[in-house]
Amino acid sequence: MTDNEDQEPTQQVETARKAFEQEFERFARFIGSSPDLSGLNLEQAIAEQRSLAELRTRHLGKKSALSASKKAIGRVAPELRASFGQLVQSIEVTLTQALDEAEQNLKNCIEDERTTLESIDVTLPGRRPRRGHRHPITLVRERLEDIFVALGYAIEDGREIETDFYNFDALNIPENHPARGSQDTFYTTERFALRSQTSTVQIHAMQRRGAPVRMIAPGRVFRRDTPDPTHNPMFFQVEGLCVDRGITMAHLKGTVAELLRRMFGGETVTRFRPSYFPFTEPSAEFDFSCFKCKGVGCRICKNSGWIELGGSGMVHPNVLRAAGVDPEEFSGFAFGFGIDRMCALMYELDDIRLLFENDVRFLEQFE
Ligand code: DAH
Repeated sequence: MTDNEDQEPTQQVETARKAFEQEFERFARFIGSSPDLSGLNLEQAIAEQRSLAELRTRHLGKKSALSASKKAIGRVAPELRASFGQLVQSIEVTLTQALDEAEQNLKNCIEDERTTLESIDVTLPGRRPRRGHRHPITLVRERLEDIFVALGYAIEDGREIETDFYNFDALNIPENHPARGSQDTFYTTERFALRSQTSTVQIHAMQRRGAPVRMIAPGRVFRRDTPDPTHNPMFFQVEGLCVDRGITMAHLKGTVAELLRRMFGGETVTRFRPSYFPFTEPSAEFDFSCFKCKGVGCRICKNSGWIELGGSGMVHPNVLRAAGVDPEEFSGFAFGFGIDRMCALMYELDDIRLLFENDVRFLEQFE
């Protein structure tokens, strides 16, 4: 038996009411004719709601003093029972009404707070999405593509992983040839490697299209180089191939000269120097007059007046044969050069690695 049960039932229920009133005092401002919930933010209102629910359990729940008083009604002397019952009931009603009202007002307050927080001001200006733009290498590649498409060339999409056949053998670079060393690349599984030059696409293009064929193939190539201001283990080249009946070195020279005039201006002069590549015979490297100083000599052309760009030549009969084209009937020329190198020249970049670091502060300066 608890202390409460020792007391007079009436006294017991009055004690319970007082205890409730004391605890409810801090919620009293939430009820009445002008309830005041103005000082509450969302979190506080939710906390108050929780305390109020606990208060309800304590005072109206099964284990509450009031509930004990209700059970005691039956034990009260018959002549007092009715008035005691009424007392208990009226206290229960008072408590319940106070709790309900406070709870309802808190609930409204929480809803209002939520509505304010979640409401959207449709008149606020939106956040402007950041507009992307093309990478400088892409810009140069697209210009090259435009020029060659205008000259009647197709754009070929090669593959970046190649077999030895396409990267070397078909390009007239037999096993143990020193050119394999200078073009050392990354080998994946046996006989597969990342291509070290876009010249591989010549073979694919001739195999697929046969002759005659005119195509360029821009794309990534890979070499085992240590990165420095002028080298990167991954870079971009563009390959050109033109095979037809009666193609001569004059066509090669005319095409490369036209490309460079369209790229760097009508006054650009092109120069060919004899060279060696296994897949061309004869072979030549080509330079063009500096677009900056017009040949006088400057920082860009290292005071020579000329800028070295790429390699070229007449396609070796072995290459035509390896790709299934009859060298008795067809001849062709090919050339290749670095897109990123051209890009670095055009934008006067001191370090080619800037093109591969993907630093937006650098990249967004172009276009
Ligand atoms: N593939 C050569 C390189 O990576 C460039 C090249 C030279 C391409 C001569 C050609 C060519 O098509 O005929 O250095």
